Amino acid sequence: MIQDVHNIQKMGYVNIDIDPTLDLFVEIEKLKIEKNAIILAHYYQDADIQDIADYIGDSLGLARQAQATNADMIVFAGVHFMAETAKILNPTKKVVLPDLNAGCSLSDSCPPFLFEKFIVQHPNHVVISYINCSAGIKALSDIICTSSNAQAIVESLPKEQNIIFAPDRNLGAYINKHTGRNMVLWNGACMVHEIFSLEKIIKLKVRHPEAKVIAHPECEEAVLAIADFIGSTSQMLSFTQKDNCSEFIVATETGIIHQMIKNSPGKHFIPAPPTNACACNDCPHMKLNTLEKLYLCMKYELPELWMDETLRLAAKKPMDRMLALSKELGIQ
Ligand code: 13P
Ligand code: SF4
Repeated sequence: MIQDVHNIQKMGYVNIDIDPTLDLFVEIEKLKIEKNAIILAHYYQDADIQDIADYIGDSLGLARQAQATNADMIVFAGVHFMAETAKILNPTKKVVLPDLNAGCSLSDSCPPFLFEKFIVQHPNHVVISYINCSAGIKALSDIICTSSNAQAIVESLPKEQNIIFAPDRNLGAYINKHTGRNMVLWNGACMVHEIFSLEKIIKLKVRHPEAKVIAHPECEEAVLAIADFIGSTSQMLSFTQKDNCSEFIVATETGIIHQMIKNSPGKHFIPAPPTNACACNDCPHMKLNTLEKLYLCMKYELPELWMDETLRLAAKKPMDRMLALSKELGIQ
């Protein structure tokens, strides 16, 4: 191996040549069997990674799969907080990820030392945190939620209960609006969902009057206000399959469009444009993962996600509460 373990843990795979004649799809399939490994991928991953994954899903689905798997090694094709979630739920498994530097702007917007002070400033509040946060934030929370179950989890608490919601202010504001609650919101946001251009979406609607706008609740209020459907990635995917409409303007990360086309080949999907010069909106963190890095991380079982056991146990409590509540509330 060209690099040592420490370097790979810290810097990832740099200057490692892979034999160009190798069929990585075949090699990865071989490694899955050899190492009893499962590949869990988020919908925002590259098409190649989605196609080789054993399970593709949203954060709730991925957490459930990570908890239930019997594989010896969980290969997490997503971002750091997702791999952490897998380790929190299934600590005896080795969790590896293609690039340890695949972070998340939303998670980074909420550092634990500041959040701790925020909680102290708001006594007698239940802390609900969106799963897109670090293990440190999870450990400070009472219940975790995902975009699939956030509203139902908030509504399961008594109306008079004071709540802190973190870290996504857009999802929090969306739930406040739809439940009539007044949760205190942490001021964080996702760099991908925050920069959709309302003006460009409206122009697209003029050119495609039949198209339905579907949006993730991490989008800003103005975009959500013109959406025909709002939901998590898997809920958006399922909406495009069931709805009679044949054209959709998709306001979330573009990776999901791969599954939408696969599931509804006759339908047309237009990525909602951001305010910058790009036509579509990729998450730079999610897209750090490549098929090459996926192959290398399975071959060398690095980089590996390690977690302090005290932190893991503290972060597990609110995760367990979410999984139990989701089951109780019948959320798919
Ligand atoms: P879901 O797939 O759970 O809707 O989350 C979207 C997201 O931003 C993940 O980073
Ligand atoms: Fe984080 Fe947004 Fe990227 Fe999801 S899409 S990983 S929330 S930065």
